[in-house]
Amino acid sequence: MNPNTDPSAFSPLRWQGDHLELLEQTLLPTREEWLPCRRPEDVADAIRRLAVRGAPAIGVAAAYGLALATRNLDSPEKIEQEFASAADLLGATRPTAVNLRWAIERVRREFAATAGRPAKERADHLVALALTMHEEDVRANRAMGEHGATLFAAGDRVLTHCNTGALATAGYGTALGVIQSAFRQGKVSEVWVDETRPLLQGARLTAWELSRLGIPYRIATDSSVGTLMAQGLVDRAIVGADRIAANGDAANKIGTYTVAVLAARHGVPFYVAAPLSTIDPHTPSGAEIPIEQRSAEEVAEVFGVRVAPKGARAINFAFDVTPAELIAGIVTEVGVLLPPYGESIQQAFAQRKAGPQ
Ligand code: MRU
Repeated sequence: MNPNTDPSAFSPLRWQGDHLELLEQTLLPTREEWLPCRRPEDVADAIRRLAVRGAPAIGVAAAYGLALATRNLDSPEKIEQEFASAADLLGATRPTAVNLRWAIERVRREFAATAGRPAKERADHLVALALTMHEEDVRANRAMGEHGATLFAAGDRVLTHCNTGALATAGYGTALGVIQSAFRQGKVSEVWVDETRPLLQGARLTAWELSRLGIPYRIATDSSVGTLMAQGLVDRAIVGADRIAANGDAANKIGTYTVAVLAARHGVPFYVAAPLSTIDPHTPSGAEIPIEQRSAEEVAEVFGVRVAPKGARAINFAFDVTPAELIAGIVTEVGVLLPPYGESIQQAFAQRKAGPQ
């Protein structure tokens, strides 16, 4: 598949032999520019600024960042030091997306397993690992697309929140990947795209992706969800997640909880699509998920233009938690998990352990 001719093969991350390039998402949709990252600091900065964003994409970017940290070093001590400080730096960039911690821990284990080997060999191994994690994420998303599409019926009008497409992953996307697969099967007639205040991931990024994919969509303000559902214009809602607790509570972009409550009120099935790397069996429930708070400026200003009075205070939670009881199904790469999630999540992990992955 050629990403230039097939938008479904697009990835926002590309390894260029000795450095990483990220599609600078803060500039989309007006400008498409690739950001070169040669040091872990570049990757950390890109994650913090949301130049790369979306839980799975952040995880894979961090894996590349760790590979960058270990390049061109001879001394065994130095490579250990650089790895450790890059892991700390990258791990501290965003607190909610568990894929970040998951990716860093996986790379850390593999790095430890190469201790004693020549530094170059260890560094090359981390590049190969990052590339593998990149491919695995795309494969998981495509599998999720197949499983998730079974939940849809012909002509569905689907609502989604934030951006969960290729841009938020290594490729293909989670919830938007499911929408894409279902669309190909004739099951989606239109997508309602929540604009997703304050950074407009829906209006800027999801709309950009759906345009490229040729999938019909309309953008709606976040506060339109209730009216859309009350008027019977939404058949299904599907979103991604930054972290799913062991009981199925799911943290996702602020506003997701509102969509889930309204969906329950109007009898609209509400699904979450996320790879197993987003499920955190060590977090018992949503109450223990750390929620990132971002600067008040992101709310008081719209892309650098002040909209609130000078000195106005604002609160800016980046995520909220949807309780498991509002989620009709969690779409993963091993299948659609159903309530009670405490059990189905454990079974999914057991199934993956037993399977080829
Ligand atoms: O703050 P963002 O843009 O990184 O938030 C992203 C989301 O909330 C996504 O829905 C989530 O990471 C799942 S992405 C496949």
